[in-house]
Parts: sequence; C-alpha cells; structure tokens
Amino acid sequence: MIEYPAQGEHEKRERRPLETARPATVAAVLCPYVRSRGEERDSDAKLAEAVGLARAIDIDVRLAQTAPLRQITPATLLGKGVVERLKEAVDELGIGLVIVDDKLTPVQQRNLEKAWQAKVIDRTGLILEIFGARARTHEGRLQVELAALDYQRGRLVRSWTHLERQRGGFGFLGGPGESQIEIDRRLIGERIVRIKRDLEAVQRTRAVNRVGRKKARLPTIALVGYTNAGKSTLFNRLSGASVMAKDLLFATLDPTMRSIKLPNGKNCVISDTVGFVSDLPTHLVAAFRATLEEVIEADLIVHVRDISHPETEQQRADVEAVLKELGALEEGGDRLLIEALNKIDALPADKLESLQTRSAAGAERALRFPVSALTGEGVDQLLETIGELLGRAGTAREISVPLSDGATIAWLYRHGEVRHRHDDGEVALLTVALDAAAAAQFERRLAR
Ligand code: GTP
Repeated sequence: MIEYPAQGEHEKRERRPLETARPATVAAVLCPYVRSRGEERDSDAKLAEAVGLARAIDIDVRLAQTAPLRQITPATLLGKGVVERLKEAVDELGIGLVIVDDKLTPVQQRNLEKAWQAKVIDRTGLILEIFGARARTHEGRLQVELAALDYQRGRLVRSWTHLERQRGGFGFLGGPGESQIEIDRRLIGERIVRIKRDLEAVQRTRAVNRVGRKKARLPTIALVGYTNAGKSTLFNRLSGASVMAKDLLFATLDPTMRSIKLPNGKNCVISDTVGFVSDLPTHLVAAFRATLEEVIEADLIVHVRDISHPETEQQRADVEAVLKELGALEEGGDRLLIEALNKIDALPADKLESLQTRSAAGAERALRFPVSALTGEGVDQLLETIGELLGRAGTAREISVPLSDGATIAWLYRHGEVRHRHDDGEVALLTVALDAAAAAQFERRLAR
C-alpha cells in the first residue's frame, strides 16, 4: 500500500479550478513528431506503443494520432492548429485525458489542460502510472513512489489530483468529482527522506541475500529485454514458476528470482527484471537502478528479444543503451551476454528459416538462440548453453599478473577459485580455476 500525506493535509488546500465531469479514463493519445529533431523511430510505431502502454492500465483510448510538428511552440509544445483540432475531437468524443507521448514542461502541461479542458499527462507521467500499477514488491513500490514524488516536486505549479488508492496509481488520472489537491514541497521532501530510509533497509537485506548466493557459488542469470518481449513467459518456462505473464506491457516490475537446475545438474538463480522502454526518462533509470542491481551483478545476461516485432533492432539498441547506462554492459567489457530471439512461432516460415540457418552457422555477432517461450521450442538448447557457459567446472590454469595490477588479481579472486598463489618479485603467480563464463570474460579483459 502506498502512503501519501494524510487526508487532513489536503483539505486545507484549494480546489483545482479545472474540474471536468469527463472520466479521465476516456483518453486520446497524441504522439508529437518533430522532424527537425531527427527522430529515428517510426512515429506510427511509437504511437502504437503509447496506446499499448495506456491500455495496459485500463485506459479507454478513443483517439490516437501522430502530430507532425514543424517546430516546437514553447508554450504548448504543439502548434496552435494541432491544439485547436484536438479540442474539437476532445469535446466530440467526451475525452477526459490527453496523453502526450513526449516530455512536457509543467507550464506546457497546464496550458494544454486549459486549452482542452481535460487532464494532460506526458510520457513520464504515463510510465510512472504503469510502474505504479505493476510494482509487486515492497521495494518496487517504494522506488516508483520515489520517482513519482521527484517528478511531482518539479511540477508543483499545477495542482495534483487525489491519489487513487484502489487502483494503485499515482493520481495523475484522478476520477471525476475528486477533490483536487496540491502537495507542497515540504510534504514531498519529508516523504522522500522517509522512503529513502526504507529503501536503504530493503536494499541492505537484498545485498545480504546476494552475498549468501555468492558464498553458495550460485551463478545468477538476469533476463532483460524490451517491454513485452516475453521475459516473464520465458522465466516461467525456465523455472516452472507461475509469475504473472499477460498480454500487458510491464507485467514485470520487480525482479523475481527463482533457482533452477540446469541440464548439467548445477543450480543457478534466474531473475526476471523490469521491461525497458525507449526514451525511458533518465531520472527513472536512476530510480530503478537498485531494482536492476541483479542485472549489474549477474554472471550472465540473457537479452530476451521479440524477434517478430517490426522494430526489433531498434528495441535491441534501446535495451543495450540502458544496460550501458547502468554499467551492466561496457564496450568490450567483461559481462557475458547472450540473446534469446523469442517468439519465433510468430515468424513467417522464410524468415524463421534464414534466422535458424544464420544462428546454426554461427554467423551472428553474438550468441543468439531462436526460441519460443510460448511453445518451448529452442528452450532446451538455450538451457544447455547456459549450463555450458556457467556450470562447467573450470580447469585450473597458471596465470601470472604484475603485483601492480591489483584490479586483475582482485578480479581473479572474485570470479575464479584461486588454488595457489606465489608472489615472485614483481609478479603474482596464481593457479586459478575459472569456469567457461569467467574464462571468456578473462580473455576479453586481456584483449582490452
Ligand atoms: P514486461 O513485463 O512488460 O516487460 O513484459 P515481458 O517481457 O515480461 O513479456 P511477457 O512474458 O509478459 O509476454 C508479453 C506477451 O508476449 C504475452 O502476451 C505473451 O503471451 C507473449 N509471448 C511471450 N513469449 C511468446 C512467444 O514465444 N511467442 C508468442 N507468439 N508470444 C509470446
């Protein structure tokens, strides 16, 4: 349950001048497209994604439009003509909420609300709503709330609606007749301090668990991927667990961990993580960093991709960009990453054939496995490889490292089993057993 400042605190506050009788769940989605910004993504695909995100939290989307803009109008982002045309549609369709799939300044948001007499949220607001509705663990809820408060703090120029407790949202979409409130900086500031303290406690527990897993030498695999790529479905298939998997974007917010047995009999821990979206607001990435700590620390990252999606390459680039931002994937770095090319059952036969031929011939850049989490096809092969990469007991080898290179020595202690060490003058002679994954990482480290 997410807590908000007590009711009494709100009552003193002014009612919001904009009271609309229209339900805020009847919505229009507008996807501004500014040619001069040189956007790479197809605006129709962006629009379809925004509509999908809105529907994922039960918003009734009655109108969805792209809005090509020649230039940005500072007061409203959108040009006068677009604002006026939308006003007509808003009145005609009884729309109570307009989602502008872009970044709006607080002032732009307020001006648009006035012009349309409807509530307006931007992409960050929408993503926060979705994160709020999907958070499953205590930590996840705290993190979403922190990000939401941070966002609100910058927007105190507008009034905030009541927070809808039942739906678990953050109140950007308050229903009709609700009293409209403002949360002042002081209340928000106090709440932020409290949440940060709670989060620290939760994170300490998590760190203790992680140390426990390391001691037990349980390798960790993190499933990452674009939202709706099929992570939860693959997670279920791999673990036999019954984690919620539906045709909803962001069904997963918090990492869910299960231990599984690999074909070679070794155990490992598999974690399912939050789905990425393009243009994830940077301060959200920061807020979710802790949730993604499992990814940062994982021995192996399995990037689950929806290979049947028309923008699958763009999605891959977006996910890799976030991983890099998190420090989970450095250019030529240590991390081992493989791709599960999911949803092959949804591919036309000719595409599937060429994909399988390329993968079998090892023609792909990375280790890639065509799979279907839905039918189970290819999953055995994937597990087999994960087992090989992680589980194989490494053969011990002799490595000499200059004593001045403390980082490499520390790395070997962390990732391998140091069986013998002899320091000779300037060098350390180490006998180390590395498993296949660590050995591959070590080779790459040397090549740098
Ligand atoms: P987020 O939690 O939003 O990040 O999504 P996710 O990546 O965990 O996706 P999820 O497993 O919830 O799957 C999304 C949708 O894709 C669901 O409707 C699944 O049934 C469907 N799906 C998953 N795997 C496959 C597959 O192999 N083939 C097909 N055709 N559909 C799949």
